[in-house]
Amino acid sequence: MTVRILHFTDVHFGTEDSRAVEAATAYAQENAHDLTVVSGDLTQTGVPAEFEAAAAWLKRLPGPVITCAGNHDTTYYNVAMRILKPWGRFKHWIGPVEGQEHRSPGLAVRTLNTARGIQMRRNWSKGRADLKDFRAAAEALNDCSDDTLQVIVCHHPLMEVLGEPITGDVTRGKQAAAILAEHRIDLVLGGHFHYPFAATYPVVDERTHGVGAGTLSTRRRGVPLSFGVIEADPTEIRVQAMDCDGGRICPGRSWALKRRKPFAPLKERHNEPELATPEGLPALDPTRHETTPPEIAAAQGAPAVAETAPREPTGV
Ligand SMILES: [Fe+2]
Ligand SMILES: [Fe+2]
Repeated sequence: MTVRILHFTDVHFGTEDSRAVEAATAYAQENAHDLTVVSGDLTQTGVPAEFEAAAAWLKRLPGPVITCAGNHDTTYYNVAMRILKPWGRFKHWIGPVEGQEHRSPGLAVRTLNTARGIQMRRNWSKGRADLKDFRAAAEALNDCSDDTLQVIVCHHPLMEVLGEPITGDVTRGKQAAAILAEHRIDLVLGGHFHYPFAATYPVVDERTHGVGAGTLSTRRRGVPLSFGVIEADPTEIRVQAMDCDGGRICPGRSWALKRRKPFAPLKERHNEPELATPEGLPALDPTRHETTPPEIAAAQGAPAVAETAPREPTGV
């Protein structure tokens, strides 16, 4: 069985790119899929008009849709509301801020919230993982058959990705990734970087992968606007970024990720190197499983990598 997920994120209504949004919406309406995931930052500043636009857009998406909150989905400039009721508007217009669940043949998905209205650090827009919630969500998914694709959706990437324009700096992110791997979760879908990627967590059996989609907003970070198409069969997960600059959709970067074998023991590692960002945060290598055709990679200024050999840990 092959399952197909459309992955939108960081549409940022209020600063959305309307041509990209319309092209992506038309793609969703014209191409069959099992589920649409929208992984947060639906709005720019969390004001009612932006939530109304986001809710109207979600209604135009065919089939089941699952959403989580991003750091822009709280009341960005209203500190009192961020403290007292950070997700009131999200719940009113969009739905539960976490714990949304989807089940269909071959697919089990659940959302978690890594965004916070305030934090005990200056940059409250960074992520935070509540390990108890991650464990509970993973256990909730584990009641499905072993060959079902198990997916967690949260806004912030749990670990940094080399070459990304910003950090997620998720408190306890790596521990959260390890918990998900120990529970045989296959994919963790998110956004926040405004930059597509797919990379393997260097934990447990190295068969749990982080995947991020690009933005559909004008808040571009040096790469084309895009969304993601994910196809999974029993042996492989293919991730295709679909670029949509100027309202024209064309395939961008792509990756092929290995799935763990059903019922295989969780003991082997596969030499995924441990990398770190210049800030010392644990990082992932987004080129390791990249399959982007060279002409597309060259056009986007990315390295053309079909299947790279494992990199040495560089410490950079
Ligand atoms: Fe964003
Ligand atoms: Fe974000």
